[in-house]
Amino acid sequence: MNKKLLDLKCSQCSSFFKPFEVLYNCPKCGGVLETIYDYKEIEGNFKGEDLWRYSEFLPTTNRSNLLVGSTPLYKSKSLKKELGIEEIWIKDDTKNPTGSLKDRASAVVAVLAKELGYRTVACASTGNAASSLAGISAAEGLESYIFAPRSMSLPKLVQLQVFNARILKINASYDECFELCNKITERYGWYNRNTAYNPYTLDGKKTVTFEIAEQLDWKVPDLVVVPVGDGCIISSVWKGFRELKEVGIIDELPRLIGVQAEGCKPLKDAFDRNKEKPEVTTPKTLAESIAVGEARNGLMALRDVRESKGKFVSVSDNEMLDAVKLLASSTGIFGELAGVASIAAIKKEVIDGNLDREDRIVALITGSGLKDIEVTSKLLDRVQTIEPREKEICERIEEIRKR
Ligand SMILES: Cc1ncc(COP(=O)(O)O)c(C=O)c1O
Ligand SMILES: [Zn+2]
Repeated sequence: MNKKLLDLKCSQCSSFFKPFEVLYNCPKCGGVLETIYDYKEIEGNFKGEDLWRYSEFLPTTNRSNLLVGSTPLYKSKSLKKELGIEEIWIKDDTKNPTGSLKDRASAVVAVLAKELGYRTVACASTGNAASSLAGISAAEGLESYIFAPRSMSLPKLVQLQVFNARILKINASYDECFELCNKITERYGWYNRNTAYNPYTLDGKKTVTFEIAEQLDWKVPDLVVVPVGDGCIISSVWKGFRELKEVGIIDELPRLIGVQAEGCKPLKDAFDRNKEKPEVTTPKTLAESIAVGEARNGLMALRDVRESKGKFVSVSDNEMLDAVKLLASSTGIFGELAGVASIAAIKKEVIDGNLDREDRIVALITGSGLKDIEVTSKLLDRVQTIEPREKEICERIEEIRKR
């Protein structure tokens, strides 16, 4: 355990609890709990090559077996040109061991589970958190139970299988799987990794901010753009910046843009209508990782985006597909639809004249396109096969050259 972890504070009713006396949400009001560290004692003495470099800000100082975090931050000249903005940085979190940012949370939860004496962990997820928990658990020697919704993509299911997770594929939506997971996990006494339920997932994910800030030599960007489903990643990004400011490592905070799918945007709607609480909607988007009708971390995400003086933007499935191609063809990074919603939003904001082109912008790429092949391929043209004859090959080359 990290002795610098002092308290858990409820994001809704502001009650305080002692860490590990309460494991999940606020016993008084059900709100999501946030960790509070002894910031005066944090020295900012960052050592090591992975996210454990920032273990002063994590609940445990033990390390995971897989290397999680330390993902690249690229300054992209080609995207800068394509989008017509001064400075754009791409945080490529597809480079985590199972291909998504979720590994940051799974690593912290799995290492903590072992320290707390659990042998089994569980979660429900649209896909990435599940395959992530399965992979990290395999590396840590833990058993994992995964509540998989009917919509889970084949690559993510295959990941669960090869990682030897105990798969409970349920004929239900992610929102329903979430509730079932909480009930059944309690019944069996497993450790629950569910997002907006286990307070330490926020801590794992906030390490993406520490890396961004450090990679930028602690010069805070103007704007950070984040794909949003439940709203945990965006709140984690904000927690990271707030904590760095609290310990005096940075003295400014960025604005945040949260990006939702046009067909599933409860947080954008609540934000635009100045509401504190999002409504529950039925998702209609192919971007399955952000197809979340009941945003579990909605209150906190709305609070944080407002505090940052940012906003929410929504993008269509086609805009996300264009962004997959734009990012991949100009940088060599292949993200999944949800994972590149950030790029789609930046493009849209530039076209709509809503972005200051001088801003230093960071776009989070949250998940690998290789995990979402079926969906992406549905939106792409079919590749035609040609006969193995020189004449036909040359004809095809001429055709390609004309495009
Ligand atoms: C690739 C990807 N991007 C974005 C998100 C959204 O994160 P959150 O639900 O914390 O808002 C997810 C969540 O599953 C994801 O897998
Ligand atoms: Zn509370």
